[in-house]
Amino acid sequence: MKTRTIGHLDVSAVGLGAMGLSQGYGSGVSAEEATGLIRKAFDLGCTFFDTAEGYAAGANEELVGPALAPIRDQVVLATKFYLGGPLSPAELGKQIREKIDASLTRLRTDHVDLYYQHRVPDSIPVEDVAGVMGELIAEGKILGWGQSQATEEQIRRAHAVTPLTAIQSEYSLMERMFERDVIPACEELGIGFVAFSPLATGFLSGRITAEDTYPGADVRRVITRFDKDNIRANQPLLDLLTEFGREKNATPAQVSMAWMLHKKDFVVPIPGSRRIERVEENLGAADVELTAEEFARIETALAGIEIHGNRTDEDIAKLLIKE
Ligand SMILES: NC(=O)c1ccc[n+]([C@@H]2O[C@H](COP(=O)([O-])OP(=O)(O)OC[C@H]3O[C@@H](n4cnc5c(N)ncnc54)[C@H](OP(=O)(O)O)[C@@H]3O)[C@@H](O)[C@H]2O)c1
Repeated sequence: MKTRTIGHLDVSAVGLGAMGLSQGYGSGVSAEEATGLIRKAFDLGCTFFDTAEGYAAGANEELVGPALAPIRDQVVLATKFYLGGPLSPAELGKQIREKIDASLTRLRTDHVDLYYQHRVPDSIPVEDVAGVMGELIAEGKILGWGQSQATEEQIRRAHAVTPLTAIQSEYSLMERMFERDVIPACEELGIGFVAFSPLATGFLSGRITAEDTYPGADVRRVITRFDKDNIRANQPLLDLLTEFGREKNATPAQVSMAWMLHKKDFVVPIPGSRRIERVEENLGAADVELTAEEFARIETALAGIEIHGNRTDEDIAKLLIKE
């Protein structure tokens, strides 16, 4: 497995997002299955694992921690904390400390390699959060920190106080909004960019059809990318990936991630799957190299393809109301 550098951390070129093992895409998996899948990913060369306190109210960290325990010193472990504001600086420090200690307990470790603020609300000054992150780094509880779905301005202000290791935000062939300002800022400042939902929540695998239905608390029930009309309208994108895949002996999912790996050397996708064979397929994207000519051909073709639907926090919040 090839490796990449994000900030000061060396990670496998493709990581593993653990969220779906507990929530998001239908039923989760047992602790035994999660352990098998995570260890298999490590055996295949994956050294970058992603979870959050918010995934199934801590239960996801409880799956990931024990699974990684025997290999803890050989992997980069990332988790996230969520803060709702406004908070006084004293309250903020207290809450973050309670959160990191609870995460460390669930993760069965004495430090987290990368600690992200899961969302960056305007009601809490980023400088205050960055200050606490600096303290946690000095204490050895975290090795680096990051923000998720931050704006360029939030990144610059936070980075000036305590340098950021990575930004984790949605990025795929179907969601390119951060190419405008955030990714260039990361490049300028030496910050890694970790792409969540790199398969556009599974659509780019090419295994989604307009006939699929999603019951219960499955985000695909509410995000517009999975509206039946949008699935049909986005077929030209899948046709492009399938055609390239044939040339490269790669799957659409692999071509999707090879595209972002080619784009910038500080971009690392963290796809998630509950199935070992899909984890293997996804990690295999690191071996699919595009030539400059192939990459240019994809970019040109993409410029002529309209994307229908997206994935927003606002739509996902509707799940809580509909349940
Ligand atoms: N920071 C944030 O706010 C945030 C938000 C979302 C996600 N994340 C992180 O990013 C990680 C990945 O994002 P994600 O899970 O939302 O999206 P994703 O990786 O783009 O897609 C996951 C979905 O695609 C399916 N899938 C994965 N590989 C596949 C393959 N090769 N063939 C067919 N289907 C495949 C999975 O289903 P199966 O499980 O059935 O295979 C699942 O439904 C998460 O695990 C989480 O760690 C972070």
